[in-house]
Amino acid sequence: MLLVERLCVRYGPLEAVRGVGFALREGEALALIGPNGAGKTSVLRGLLGLARAEGRVVLEGQELKGRSPEALLRLGLVLVPEGRALFPGLSVEDNLLLGGFTRFRRGENLGPDLERVYALFPRLKERRRQLAGTLSGGEQQMLAIGRALMARPRILLLDEPSLGLAPLMVREIYRILAELKRQGVTLLLVEQNAKMALSLADRGLVLEAGEVALEGPAELLRQDRRVVEAYLGLAREVEEG
Ligand SMILES: Nc1ncnc2c1ncn2[C@@H]1O[C@H](COP(=O)(O)OP(=O)(O)OP(=O)(O)O)[C@@H](O)[C@H]1O
Ligand SMILES: [Mg+2]
Repeated sequence: MLLVERLCVRYGPLEAVRGVGFALREGEALALIGPNGAGKTSVLRGLLGLARAEGRVVLEGQELKGRSPEALLRLGLVLVPEGRALFPGLSVEDNLLLGGFTRFRRGENLGPDLERVYALFPRLKERRRQLAGTLSGGEQQMLAIGRALMARPRILLLDEPSLGLAPLMVREIYRILAELKRQGVTLLLVEQNAKMALSLADRGLVLEAGEVALEGPAELLRQDRRVVEAYLGLAREVEEG
Protein backbone atom coordinates (compact mmCIF):
# COMPACT_ATOMS: atom_id res chain seq x y z
CA MET A 1 0.00 0.00 0.00
CA LEU A 2 2.75 2.42 1.04
CA LEU A 3 6.29 2.10 -0.20
CA VAL A 4 9.17 4.17 1.17
CA GLU A 5 12.52 3.94 -0.62
CA ARG A 6 15.91 5.44 0.28
CA LEU A 7 14.35 8.15 2.43
CA CYS A 8 16.86 10.76 3.59
CA VAL A 9 16.15 13.76 5.81
CA ARG A 10 18.82 16.37 6.51
CA TYR A 11 18.79 19.32 8.85
CA GLY A 12 21.71 21.39 7.62
CA PRO A 13 24.79 19.23 8.07
CA LEU A 14 22.95 16.65 10.18
CA GLU A 15 21.71 13.54 8.38
CA ALA A 16 18.81 12.52 10.60
CA VAL A 17 17.48 9.80 8.25
CA ARG A 18 19.89 7.94 6.00
CA GLY A 19 18.39 5.77 3.33
CA VAL A 20 15.44 4.26 5.17
CA GLY A 21 13.10 2.01 3.24
CA PHE A 22 10.10 -0.11 4.10
CA ALA A 23 6.77 -1.30 2.77
CA LEU A 24 3.45 -1.15 4.55
CA ARG A 25 0.75 -3.55 3.47
CA GLU A 26 -2.94 -2.77 3.65
CA GLY A 27 -4.40 -3.56 7.07
CA GLU A 28 -1.00 -4.12 8.59
CA ALA A 29 0.52 -2.44 11.65
CA LEU A 30 4.21 -1.56 11.44
CA ALA A 31 6.13 -0.46 14.54
CA LEU A 32 9.05 1.91 14.13
CA ILE A 33 11.10 1.75 17.29
CA GLY A 34 14.47 3.10 18.39
CA PRO A 35 16.15 5.37 20.92
CA ASN A 36 15.78 9.15 21.31
CA GLY A 37 17.14 10.98 18.32
CA ALA A 38 17.22 7.88 16.09
CA GLY A 39 15.20 9.73 13.46
CA LYS A 40 11.75 8.19 13.99
CA THR A 41 9.82 11.47 13.90
CA SER A 42 11.94 12.61 10.97
CA VAL A 43 10.90 9.52 9.00
CA LEU A 44 7.23 10.44 9.50
CA ARG A 45 7.86 14.10 8.67
CA GLY A 46 9.93 13.21 5.64
CA LEU A 47 7.40 10.83 4.17
CA LEU A 48 4.58 13.34 4.68
CA GLY A 49 6.61 16.16 3.13
CA LEU A 50 6.66 18.08 6.43
CA ALA A 51 10.47 17.99 6.39
CA ARG A 52 12.54 18.28 3.26
CA ALA A 53 13.37 14.76 2.18
CA GLU A 54 14.97 12.78 -0.61
CA GLY A 55 13.84 9.38 -1.76
CA ARG A 56 10.62 7.92 -3.01
CA VAL A 57 7.28 7.61 -1.24
CA VAL A 58 4.59 5.78 -3.20
CA LEU A 59 1.01 5.27 -2.08
CA GLU A 60 -0.86 2.71 -4.17
CA GLY A 61 1.26 3.50 -7.20
CA GLN A 62 1.08 7.28 -6.79
CA GLU A 63 4.25 9.17 -6.04
CA LEU A 64 3.66 11.54 -3.12
CA LYS A 65 6.48 13.98 -3.69
CA GLY A 66 5.38 17.61 -3.87
CA ARG A 67 1.82 17.02 -2.71
CA SER A 68 0.29 19.40 -0.22
CA PRO A 69 -0.59 18.26 3.31
CA GLU A 70 -4.24 18.60 2.33
CA ALA A 71 -3.77 16.35 -0.70
CA LEU A 72 -2.15 13.71 1.53
CA LEU A 73 -5.05 13.99 3.94
CA ARG A 74 -7.45 13.41 1.07
CA LEU A 75 -5.47 10.31 0.10
CA GLY A 76 -6.01 9.06 3.63
CA LEU A 77 -2.62 9.64 5.24
CA VAL A 78 -3.28 11.12 8.66
CA LEU A 79 -0.72 11.94 11.36
CA VAL A 80 -1.23 11.97 15.12
CA PRO A 81 1.80 14.10 15.94
CA GLU A 82 4.20 13.87 18.84
CA GLY A 83 2.93 16.30 21.48
CA ARG A 84 -0.61 15.97 20.09
CA ALA A 85 -0.93 19.55 18.72
CA LEU A 86 -4.47 20.12 19.95
CA PHE A 87 -6.21 23.50 20.14
CA PRO A 88 -6.24 23.93 23.94
CA GLY A 89 -8.69 26.85 23.95
CA LEU A 90 -11.30 25.01 21.89
CA SER A 91 -13.75 22.41 23.14
CA VAL A 92 -13.25 18.69 22.68
CA GLU A 93 -15.97 18.64 20.05
CA ASP A 94 -14.56 21.59 18.10
CA ASN A 95 -11.14 19.90 18.05
CA LEU A 96 -12.80 16.80 16.62
CA LEU A 97 -14.72 18.78 14.02
CA LEU A 98 -11.52 20.50 12.89
CA GLY A 99 -10.09 17.06 12.18
CA GLY A 100 -12.84 16.62 9.60
CA PHE A 101 -12.56 20.12 8.20
CA THR A 102 -11.45 19.26 4.66
CA ARG A 103 -14.25 16.71 4.42
CA PHE A 104 -16.77 19.22 5.79
CA ARG A 105 -15.66 21.72 3.15
CA ARG A 106 -16.42 19.16 0.47
CA GLY A 107 -19.95 19.01 1.82
CA GLU A 108 -19.65 15.74 3.73
CA ASN A 109 -21.66 15.18 6.87
CA LEU A 110 -19.44 14.74 9.92
CA GLY A 111 -22.21 13.62 12.28
CA PRO A 112 -21.75 9.86 11.86
CA ASP A 113 -17.98 10.20 12.28
CA LEU A 114 -18.42 12.16 15.48
CA GLU A 115 -20.67 9.40 16.81
CA ARG A 116 -18.12 6.78 15.79
CA VAL A 117 -15.37 8.61 17.68
CA TYR A 118 -17.60 9.02 20.74
CA ALA A 119 -18.42 5.32 20.62
CA LEU A 120 -14.70 4.50 20.67
CA PHE A 121 -13.98 7.10 23.36
CA PRO A 122 -16.94 7.53 25.71
CA ARG A 123 -14.74 9.75 27.88
CA LEU A 124 -14.58 12.27 25.08
CA LYS A 125 -18.34 12.26 24.73
CA GLU A 126 -18.74 13.01 28.44
CA ARG A 127 -16.30 15.88 28.02
CA ARG A 128 -17.46 17.18 24.65
CA ARG A 129 -17.93 20.76 25.93
CA GLN A 130 -14.75 20.81 28.03
CA LEU A 131 -11.75 22.80 26.75
CA ALA A 132 -9.10 20.51 25.28
CA GLY A 133 -6.38 22.20 27.34
CA THR A 134 -8.04 21.05 30.56
CA LEU A 135 -8.09 17.34 29.65
CA SER A 136 -5.70 14.91 31.31
CA GLY A 137 -2.73 13.70 29.27
CA GLY A 138 -4.40 10.43 28.40
CA GLU A 139 -7.63 12.15 27.41
CA GLN A 140 -5.65 14.53 25.21
CA GLN A 141 -4.07 11.56 23.45
CA MET A 142 -7.55 10.10 22.92
CA LEU A 143 -8.65 13.42 21.48
CA ALA A 144 -5.63 13.56 19.16
CA ILE A 145 -6.47 10.09 17.86
CA GLY A 146 -10.17 10.92 17.64
CA ARG A 147 -9.42 14.07 15.69
CA ALA A 148 -7.30 12.06 13.23
CA LEU A 149 -10.17 9.57 12.79
CA MET A 150 -12.46 12.42 11.74
CA ALA A 151 -10.38 12.65 8.55
CA ARG A 152 -11.19 8.98 7.76
CA PRO A 153 -7.61 7.74 7.63
CA ARG A 154 -6.64 4.77 5.53
CA ILE A 155 -3.16 4.93 7.00
CA LEU A 156 -2.87 6.33 10.50
CA LEU A 157 0.62 7.47 11.47
CA LEU A 158 1.10 7.82 15.21
CA ASP A 159 4.13 9.44 16.83
CA GLU A 160 4.62 8.15 20.37
CA PRO A 161 0.97 7.74 21.36
CA SER A 162 1.92 6.39 24.79
CA LEU A 163 4.50 9.02 25.73
CA GLY A 164 4.05 10.29 29.29
CA LEU A 165 0.97 8.20 30.02
CA ALA A 166 0.38 5.96 33.01
CA PRO A 167 0.40 2.19 32.28
CA LEU A 168 -3.38 1.90 32.56
CA MET A 169 -3.89 4.68 30.04
CA VAL A 170 -1.25 3.20 27.73
CA ARG A 171 -3.21 -0.06 27.71
CA GLU A 172 -6.42 1.83 26.99
CA ILE A 173 -4.86 3.66 24.04
CA TYR A 174 -3.51 0.37 22.66
CA ARG A 175 -6.88 -1.29 23.08
CA ILE A 176 -8.31 1.40 20.80
CA LEU A 177 -5.46 1.03 18.30
CA ALA A 178 -6.08 -2.71 18.17
CA GLU A 179 -9.77 -2.02 17.52
CA LEU A 180 -8.88 0.36 14.67
CA LYS A 181 -6.60 -2.28 13.20
CA ARG A 182 -9.43 -4.77 13.42
CA GLN A 183 -11.58 -2.28 11.50
CA GLY A 184 -9.01 -2.29 8.71
CA VAL A 185 -7.03 0.90 9.39
CA THR A 186 -3.38 0.49 8.40
CA LEU A 187 -1.07 1.68 11.17
CA LEU A 188 2.44 3.11 11.22
CA LEU A 189 3.35 3.34 14.85
CA VAL A 190 6.40 5.24 16.11
CA GLU A 191 7.19 4.31 19.68
CA GLN A 192 9.81 4.25 22.36
CA ASN A 193 7.56 1.84 24.20
CA ALA A 194 8.85 -1.09 22.16
CA LYS A 195 7.00 -3.63 24.24
CA MET A 196 3.54 -2.22 23.57
CA ALA A 197 4.30 -1.37 19.95
CA LEU A 198 5.62 -4.86 19.16
CA SER A 199 2.68 -6.47 20.89
CA LEU A 200 0.26 -4.70 18.54
CA ALA A 201 2.31 -4.63 15.35
CA ASP A 202 2.69 -7.32 12.72
CA ARG A 203 6.16 -6.17 11.82
CA GLY A 204 8.79 -3.98 13.37
CA LEU A 205 11.67 -1.82 12.26
CA VAL A 206 14.45 -0.75 14.60
CA LEU A 207 15.96 2.60 13.71
CA GLU A 208 19.38 3.56 15.00
CA ALA A 209 21.21 6.77 14.08
CA GLY A 210 18.99 7.31 11.05
CA GLU A 211 19.34 3.81 9.61
CA VAL A 212 17.37 0.59 9.79
CA ALA A 213 19.34 -1.58 12.20
CA LEU A 214 16.94 -4.50 12.30
CA GLU A 215 13.59 -5.46 10.85
CA GLY A 216 11.26 -8.38 10.84
CA PRO A 217 8.05 -9.89 12.17
CA ALA A 218 7.13 -8.29 15.52
CA GLU A 219 7.03 -11.72 17.12
CA LEU A 220 10.66 -12.39 16.21
CA LEU A 221 11.82 -8.92 17.26
CA ARG A 222 10.20 -9.41 20.65
CA GLN A 223 12.53 -12.37 21.14
CA ASP A 224 15.61 -10.89 19.45
CA ARG A 225 18.46 -10.66 21.96
CA ARG A 226 19.55 -7.20 20.74
CA VAL A 227 16.01 -5.82 20.97
CA VAL A 228 15.43 -7.35 24.38
CA GLU A 229 18.71 -5.95 25.72
CA ALA A 230 18.35 -2.50 24.21
CA TYR A 231 14.61 -1.91 24.60
CA LEU A 232 12.55 -4.59 26.26
CA GLY A 233 14.91 -5.38 29.12
CA LEU A 234 15.08 -1.74 30.07
CA ALA A 235 11.31 -1.37 29.82
CA ARG A 236 10.93 -4.29 32.20
CA GLU A 237 13.32 -2.76 34.72
CA VAL A 238 11.46 0.56 34.58
CA GLU A 239 8.12 -1.16 35.02
CA GLU A 240 9.33 -3.17 37.94
CA GLY A 241 10.81 0.00 39.42
N1 LIG B 1 14.00 20.71 12.90
C1 LIG B 1 15.19 20.20 13.20
N2 LIG B 1 16.34 20.91 13.03
C2 LIG B 1 17.54 20.36 13.31
N3 LIG B 1 17.72 19.12 13.78
C3 LIG B 1 16.62 18.37 13.98
C4 LIG B 1 15.31 18.88 13.72
N4 LIG B 1 14.42 17.90 14.02
C5 LIG B 1 15.14 16.86 14.47
N5 LIG B 1 16.47 17.14 14.44
C6 LIG B 1 17.55 16.22 14.84
O1 LIG B 1 17.43 15.03 14.05
C7 LIG B 1 17.71 13.88 14.81
C8 LIG B 1 16.53 12.93 14.75
O2 LIG B 1 15.45 13.54 15.43
P1 LIG B 1 14.00 12.86 15.51
O3 LIG B 1 13.12 13.84 16.19
O4 LIG B 1 13.61 12.37 14.18
O5 LIG B 1 14.32 11.62 16.46
P2 LIG B 1 13.30 10.63 17.19
O6 LIG B 1 13.77 9.25 16.89
O7 LIG B 1 11.91 10.96 16.84
O8 LIG B 1 13.60 10.94 18.72
P3 LIG B 1 12.59 10.93 19.99
O9 LIG B 1 12.43 9.49 20.37
O10 LIG B 1 13.36 11.68 21.03
O11 LIG B 1 11.32 11.58 19.58
C9 LIG B 1 18.03 14.37 16.22
O12 LIG B 1 19.42 14.42 16.34
C10 LIG B 1 17.44 15.76 16.27
O13 LIG B 1 18.17 16.60 17.12
MG1 LIG C 1 10.30 11.61 17.93
